Amino acid sequence: MKRGMRKTAGGLRGLFVYSFLLSTIRVSNAPDIISPGQFIGDGDTIVSAGQNFELGFFSPGSSTRRYLGIWYKKFSTGTVVWVANREIPIFDHSGVLYFTNQGTLLLLNGTKDVVWSSNRTTPKSNPVAQLLESGNLVVKDGNDSNPESFLWQSFDYPGDTNLPDMKLGRNLVTGLDWSISSWKSLDDPARGEYSLGIDPRGYQQLVCKKGRAIQFRAGSWNGIRFTGATRLRPNPVYRYEFVLNDKEVYFNFELLNSSVASRFVVNASGVVERLTWISQMHRWTRYFAVGEDQCDAYSFCGSNAKCNIDKSPVCACLDGFEPKSARDWSFQDWSGGCVRRTTLTCNRGEGFVKHTGMKLPDTSSSWYNTSISLRECQELCLKNCSCMAYANMDVRGRGSGCLLWFGDLIDLREFVNTGQDLYIRMAASYLDNIKRNERTKSEMLVGFIVCSILLVTGVSVLGWMFHRRKRKIRNQGKMKNILEMDYDSHSRKEELELPIIDLSTIAKATGNFSSNKKLGEGGFGLVYKGTLYGQDIAVKRLSMYSGQGIEEFKNEVLLIAKLQHRNLVKLLGCCIEGDERMLIYEYMPNKSLDYFIFDQSRSKLLDWPTRISIIDGIARGLLYLHQDSRLRIIHRDLKASNVLLDTDMNPKISDFGMARIFGGNQTEANTKRVVGTYGYMAPEYAVEGLFSVKSDIFSFGVLVLEIVSGRKNRGFFSHNHHLNLVGHAWKLWMEERSLELTDNTLGASHALSEIIRYIHVGLLCVQQQPDDRPNMSTAVLMLGGESSLPQPKQPGFFLERNVPRTQSSSSNYKSTSTNEITMTAQYPR
Ligand SMILES: *[C@@H]1O[C@H](CO)[C@@H](O)[C@H](O)[C@H]1NC(C)=O
Ligand SMILES: *[C@@H]1O[C@H](CO)[C@@H](O)[C@H](O)[C@H]1NC(C)=O
Ligand SMILES: *[C@@H]1O[C@H](CO)[C@@H](O)[C@H](O)[C@H]1NC(C)=O
Ligand SMILES: *[C@@H]1O[C@H](CO)[C@@H](O)[C@H](O)[C@H]1NC(C)=O
Ligand SMILES: *[C@@H]1O[C@H](CO)[C@@H](O)[C@H](O)[C@H]1NC(C)=O
Ligand SMILES: *[C@@H]1O[C@H](CO)[C@@H](O)[C@H](O)[C@H]1NC(C)=O
Ligand SMILES: *[C@@H]1O[C@H](CO)[C@@H](O)[C@H](O)[C@H]1NC(C)=O
Repeated sequence: MKRGMRKTAGGLRGLFVYSFLLSTIRVSNAPDIISPGQFIGDGDTIVSAGQNFELGFFSPGSSTRRYLGIWYKKFSTGTVVWVANREIPIFDHSGVLYFTNQGTLLLLNGTKDVVWSSNRTTPKSNPVAQLLESGNLVVKDGNDSNPESFLWQSFDYPGDTNLPDMKLGRNLVTGLDWSISSWKSLDDPARGEYSLGIDPRGYQQLVCKKGRAIQFRAGSWNGIRFTGATRLRPNPVYRYEFVLNDKEVYFNFELLNSSVASRFVVNASGVVERLTWISQMHRWTRYFAVGEDQCDAYSFCGSNAKCNIDKSPVCACLDGFEPKSARDWSFQDWSGGCVRRTTLTCNRGEGFVKHTGMKLPDTSSSWYNTSISLRECQELCLKNCSCMAYANMDVRGRGSGCLLWFGDLIDLREFVNTGQDLYIRMAASYLDNIKRNERTKSEMLVGFIVCSILLVTGVSVLGWMFHRRKRKIRNQGKMKNILEMDYDSHSRKEELELPIIDLSTIAKATGNFSSNKKLGEGGFGLVYKGTLYGQDIAVKRLSMYSGQGIEEFKNEVLLIAKLQHRNLVKLLGCCIEGDERMLIYEYMPNKSLDYFIFDQSRSKLLDWPTRISIIDGIARGLLYLHQDSRLRIIHRDLKASNVLLDTDMNPKISDFGMARIFGGNQTEANTKRVVGTYGYMAPEYAVEGLFSVKSDIFSFGVLVLEIVSGRKNRGFFSHNHHLNLVGHAWKLWMEERSLELTDNTLGASHALSEIIRYIHVGLLCVQQQPDDRPNMSTAVLMLGGESSLPQPKQPGFFLERNVPRTQSSSSNYKSTSTNEITMTAQYPR
């Protein structure tokens, strides 16, 4: 392709001398500018100063027709963001873009007919046409770079793409509509059926339309975001703005990091999405799309009904309303919506019921005033008999502004964590009923409290008696911690099915515990490889062993041997002799997960499907430990080196039940001796010794992030910040760049949305508050894509802490805190 620009010597008047142009070519030294009298032909381009965008002729898709357009240059080469002659193509390569002395851009075809033109301008001085770094092609007066005084700009005539700093809305003075509209097809940039823009009726709202019909309503602006687009929220990479004044109404987003590219686009099949360019993956990634679930469909539940994606069925009438047609409703045809049980008569006594967590209804028939308070708003609504509901316009601070709705409430939705307050007018009789119920409720509450106090007192007395008895038993050293298991103590006397192997046999099998048979070592003891009766085994020789008698140890081991699951390492036997305590496991030839994922070359062996199956396997194993087995086992030291891989790369959790064996002085909820590994320990466990299934979930979340990223949580290093992997993942998530977390060796995978889902679940598992973390069964559903995913909150332990660490290994740190941190065995390493 030819580069550079053909230019005229200037002084041309009119188009008819166009044919002379070719003989007077001059190359420019400012390649982003076209000066008056100059032109570019098909094959020439101009490029913005920082190489972000390029303008020239192109053919979309498989079409051979020529269009003048602007496309990305530096990021995604060739992604078109604007087309001049959308509707009228040029059929050959004869097109020319000519900039007149009067400051008008003319697109001419081979017969010098004007195919497209910018609007006539009245320049004061020397006009220039310039392609800006933002992708905006502007006509302006000489050096004047004030956007307000641009004579013409392509941003005023958007195509299917909204770029940062480009207004999406309308100019209320000139009537210019800054909405974006889809192409007809990949091959034809002509205006298609779908569009995204601001609906000017009532309080202006952002809507997606097909033709003239609304398909999705992002809704009205509430000061922070659009009421129905909860995922479009501000973050460190994007800043959103909504401007409403006498002259214009628009939405606009700004990119705060120039090394990221991002755009909204309505594609030819009507999907509105925000795409972000990730250099690492070398592709556009979808981070936000509208119409993602049923409830996004406009008025899916009909009028006066609300949609809640977490409920089944998703549609429900508002309180005090009933289905218009009970029959349709029972056949899940929601379109008829709901009607009031008691019609409003505009009598005294009518009032409002507050609904929280709502997407506000369609505002196209609403009225607003930004300077009226909520209280006055209520009065206004009450005064007007056709007013159905009111709400604050702006939810920031204590709220401000007043929005009123008249007639039916359309397209309501209920959100879990987000959403705002809506006050709906109800009949006097309905409100009386509510008041009466509340009174009964509070009477019942008093009764309940009295009963509870009596009950609690009774139980405490019993509990105290039981506790005294229990302490007596424990002091005799006979009673094991019964809180942690739902295990019937009578069955303890079952036959010991687990082989007890004597020390001499094991010594022989392991070459007398020779050091070259050693597989690993850690807090729980050493691990040796051995061969017993022709079968490879792994022997864990427990050290630091204290506390339990032989019978108790046997019982514990027996219990643990009964835990059988394909994702748990199988316990084959044990050895108890003198002070020796050993456990014999099946041998795993593929070593442990850390051996693969943290190694540059070996991690290539784990492609994405394999990683998914490993994560899923670990999740199932953990689910079994937490919920499905007879014992409720909390692993307490889940980490990559405790996940072994069999010949088919199936994961098997090892070292489960060690916490039980090393029971000692602990109760279910609190332990003085923290067993675990830095980087995997939940904050409440590491700091306060509180453990629960949720602390295992935390470790699982860390593991998920490690498997996806191929990096260790602890020892994670970045030049830019002091975050560990969890913190880094959280940062990327907030900036909507989470795909950058993925292991480079995964390459351009096709499962992008799946990867994002796994990262999402990982982040949900490492949330600071244990109650916020899902339990294992929910996590399994989430991984399978069968459960909706809430937004993760801030994770725990996201800063790399300044704790002394050894160079060679990730385990065995001594904590500087008051709790002694004991590390468990890494088996096998
Ligand atoms: C140029 O455009 C005019 C008007 O659209 C059309 O009549 C003419 O055939 C076109 N010429 C070429 C060479 O495409
Ligand atoms: C020029 O301005 C008119 C309104 O004044 C508008 O309808 C038309 O679309 C504009 N055309 C271009 C190419 O800017
Ligand atoms: C534009 O700026 C340059 C230097 O900054 C100056 O020499 C030139 O005269 C200016 N042109 C106009 C039209 O203002
Ligand atoms: C911008 O993004 C790049 C990588 O995408 C990152 O390295 C850089 O730290 C970011 N800059 C800021 C200011 O966040
Ligand atoms: C529009 O986007 C959706 C989702 O990304 C995609 O499935 C569809 O193929 C796209 N349509 C076109 C015509 O590109
Ligand atoms: C909004 O309310 C204020 C105070 O009641 C009033 O002064 C103002 O004129 C109202 N504005 C509109 C547009 O109704
Ligand atoms: C109630 O509000 C509607 C819509 O703003 C208006 O048309 C109507 O005149 C009002 N009625 C009264 C009684 O104020």
